[in-house]
Amino acid sequence: MGKTVGVLTSGGDAPGMNAAIRAVTRSALARGYEVYGIKNGFKGLVNGDFIKFERNSVSGILNRGGTFLGSARMPEFIKEEIQNIAIAQMKSVNMDALVVIGGDGTYRGGYDLAKKGIKVIGIPATIDNDVVGTEYSIGFYTAWNTIVEAIDKLRDTSASHHRCSVVEVMGNKCGDLALYSGVCVGAEVIIVPEDEYKEEEVLAKMCHLDQVKKGRHAIVVATEKLVDVNDLAQKISNVTTYSGRATILGHIQRGGSPVPNDRLLATLLGDKAVELLDNGISGHCVGILNDEIISTDIIEAIDKGKEKRTDLYKLFTRLA
Ligand code: F6P
Repeated sequence: MGKTVGVLTSGGDAPGMNAAIRAVTRSALARGYEVYGIKNGFKGLVNGDFIKFERNSVSGILNRGGTFLGSARMPEFIKEEIQNIAIAQMKSVNMDALVVIGGDGTYRGGYDLAKKGIKVIGIPATIDNDVVGTEYSIGFYTAWNTIVEAIDKLRDTSASHHRCSVVEVMGNKCGDLALYSGVCVGAEVIIVPEDEYKEEEVLAKMCHLDQVKKGRHAIVVATEKLVDVNDLAQKISNVTTYSGRATILGHIQRGGSPVPNDRLLATLLGDKAVELLDNGISGHCVGILNDEIISTDIIEAIDKGKEKRTDLYKLFTRLA
């Protein structure tokens, strides 16, 4: 029997997912596999929504944001009867291997299938950078770049008007987008989920910056879901001479053409995923650590919080 692999993207989309689909497809075709693209994540797997891929099926997508296969969140995939339907759909086209591209929710779905005998490899792709088993996930570099560009613009106008910009960024339960962006825009304050949020400390710092350091303007970068940025901006207006303004960057952070780092990472990880499958490895996820492509048991990456970049955080605090 020939070798047949499916590839899907699941969870929140991330720039570079297309580059990963392309790398998986081309690498698998080069190794003699039949390849199917699966539409809309695990939903498409359950519905048998498959597209037979040839080399040119993935032409012209390397530089495109989003995922041309579509993505979805499917919490019901936790149910065994749903997983069994997906496996039956896979069997109907002799698909016995799967590459899942996404975050830890995607890994969980893949892991459940691996336990049932499907060969599965996970590729980390989420702007949140919250996946264990890799230093960087596909999409993070592009979102980070988008945030830095946006905050640079906010700084121009905020500096002209003696204002404080309070900017909400994505990240879910991971502060990396706020931390890395905060360092690169010279933010005065960052608010991240890895630390307890203390409003009085933030306001005291803003007063100090205003009255003692005589700062012309200020930037606060906050990870989503921790603080009401409109409320915080108002409070900063109340206790300092800055006029506070809130900006929620929202889904703009998920879009855009992937930056070269994401394209390269996606290409390296996509190829490695197929290499692992070809060597009979399953239930693993690929990643990058100290510039080396690595693989880890998927279970080690599921439902675990990533460690905080304490070094970067300390540097930020020293310079702010
Ligand atoms: O996981 C990526 C992410 O963009 C998070 O940063 C954010 O909390 C969430 O997805 C938003 O999800 P949705 O697009 O479903 O609103």
